[in-house]
Amino acid sequence: MTDGISARYLVDSYREWAGRQGVPITEGVAVDLHVVETAPWARLGGGARAGFVELRGRGDFVGLHVIDIPPGCATDWVRHLYDEILYVLSGHGSASIRVGDRETHSFEWGPRALFSPPLNSPYRLFNVSGAEPVRLVSANDLPFLFNVFRNENFLFDNPFAFPERVGRNGYFAGEGDFLPIRPGKHMWETNFVPDLGSLSLPEWEARGAGSRNIKIILSDSSMHAHSSEMPVGAYKKGHRHGPGAHVFAVTGSGYTLMWNEGDADFERHEWRHGFVFAPPDGMFHQHFNTGPEPARYLAVSMGSHRYPVLTHKVKIKQAPDASVQEGGSQINYEDQDPRIHAIWLRELAGSGVPSRMGKYFDEERIREAAS
Ligand SMILES: [Fe+2]
Repeated sequence: MTDGISARYLVDSYREWAGRQGVPITEGVAVDLHVVETAPWARLGGGARAGFVELRGRGDFVGLHVIDIPPGCATDWVRHLYDEILYVLSGHGSASIRVGDRETHSFEWGPRALFSPPLNSPYRLFNVSGAEPVRLVSANDLPFLFNVFRNENFLFDNPFAFPERVGRNGYFAGEGDFLPIRPGKHMWETNFVPDLGSLSLPEWEARGAGSRNIKIILSDSSMHAHSSEMPVGAYKKGHRHGPGAHVFAVTGSGYTLMWNEGDADFERHEWRHGFVFAPPDGMFHQHFNTGPEPARYLAVSMGSHRYPVLTHKVKIKQAPDASVQEGGSQINYEDQDPRIHAIWLRELAGSGVPSRMGKYFDEERIREAAS
């Protein structure tokens, strides 16, 4: 008996809050963010619209908010006690970010820009075009923080300042610091990447043929971001990890295979700029570039290389390219299901793109066996 008191049980406070925002919530495995539905979101003001996206593999920490700013419009000043990484899908705009009592940093951005207002810094987003709409996506840790604090005013109307998160002025102008560690661990520290498509990525061959990668520390956040690239005619090695890694295609086009250990078949998702997907918990996944240009993506999750937060992140970041046999999470080329390379060769046949995987595979023999 509850004696008239409703039994609150298995409550997801973030979902309840999201449901009250009056904006559509899109669910999916892989989603094209260019076509996600939005509706006016009072919290941003200024005619801005939003739509939330919840992916099957989202995990417990990260949420996605698609944000539209109509031509010539701007959001109100907003601030919040959660970290967010903003990635520009289309359109051109500017951001003003207030740090301290007086200083405001402003910078302009366009498609494929990436930036992060330092924690709880007031900011406004402007569409600088009179004709073209702007669409961005915010990847943030609000789902986790809302479920902890459950108080909207505390999270969105809180004057506490975090000057230690701000970084140097150049970080708001697109400058950054390259922090070398070793391939697969090198970091780029900044608050703003003007064009993720042209950020310099160091080599990480152990992750795949011609693979390149950099970890991005944005506004000294504990949210992780990295960008990886596959050259033309190549694909990465398969691997697996916990949920919550949201993968955004940035340049090029291709497909990703996902499977659970022992599955008879692969699940397949196509992508190009605007698509996002999140490999579910423990599911192997492998990315393939099938297009005529290098394919680059952005991945965002909870727990950075500087502040991993989660113990399983520490383990995977210590040895990110360790094989399954070594107790790691990566499937090296010589150990992968032979069907994977046969599918790859079929994809490339007729596309005009030559495979550059011959260094790792006897492709003649694989073609003969398939014919
Ligand atoms: Fe992954």
